[in-house]
Amino acid sequence: MAEPVRTAVFPVAGLGTRFLPATKVLPKEMLPVVDKPLIHYAVAEALEAGIEEIVLVIGPAKSLTEDYFKGAPALERALAERGKKAEIVAVSEDLPAPQKLSFVRQEEPLGLGHAVWCARQYAAGGPFAVVLPDDLILARPGCLRQMMEVYAALGGNLVATEDVPREHTNRYGILDVVEDDGRLARARGLVEKPDPAQAPSTLSIIGRYILQPDVFEHLDKQERGAGGEIQLTDAMAATIGDVPFHGLRFAGRRFDCGGKLGFIEANLAFALERQDLAPGVRDFLKGYG
Ligand code: UTP
Repeated sequence: MAEPVRTAVFPVAGLGTRFLPATKVLPKEMLPVVDKPLIHYAVAEALEAGIEEIVLVIGPAKSLTEDYFKGAPALERALAERGKKAEIVAVSEDLPAPQKLSFVRQEEPLGLGHAVWCARQYAAGGPFAVVLPDDLILARPGCLRQMMEVYAALGGNLVATEDVPREHTNRYGILDVVEDDGRLARARGLVEKPDPAQAPSTLSIIGRYILQPDVFEHLDKQERGAGGEIQLTDAMAATIGDVPFHGLRFAGRRFDCGGKLGFIEANLAFALERQDLAPGVRDFLKGYG
């Protein structure tokens, strides 16, 4: 049995340049899909998967994200006075207890690997998860929970994966696959953003990881990779051989909310999941057929 995963790290200290000008003041993870910020979905997915400790890696400025996770007693009182029970649930459900939540600052956006390294004091004690809120996943059970089930049997490093068109391999970390049963693939290597012609496969890593703490030994070296950034993919690749590395094609649909098209698609898809909104959205879309 693999050692249980209790901690999840949420790196949200990037610049979010694809969402400027909104991200000039609004952290990307606070963009709402329908009515909930991306970070709320991500944290709820982790709690559903049994995660006990939530660590957010945020940028150096004072952050709305920190405020969002604080209790809102005055608002809850005002809602109670107005008998707004559903709204009281909405502001507090799926949020971690304050003592289970920590914030770490990444002073400079030096890359995803560096952001994870910033959380080492919380994460280095055992296996841990990394969740990128911009990859919003519509799945039941959630993607991380599906991964936990596979991880319990396999151990090692496990990432969520998706097949991408070959012309898009230069946007993702790509697995060099040795075995593949259509659901689970075992990798002998990883390459960050390879040119389509050089990509060892078209199986891409998306923003859910379960990692062994050994990855910190490599992140400690602070080596720069693709784009001059300290890449998580490079540190994970360096551990292959010491620990097995698998990619899981999860059941569900991923929306790349780091970009505008994915974000718009996510809003439509999540609205279509809601009884109160689906008929109106369908009617609206008919007009655009
Ligand atoms: P992205 O690659 O989407 O980068 O990061 P970004 O900077 O947020 O967005 P663009 O490309 O400029 O529009 C993936 C995740 O890793 C975090 C981001 O906040 C996002 O959740 N990240 C990235 C960090 O926390 N620190 C970094 O140095 C880089």
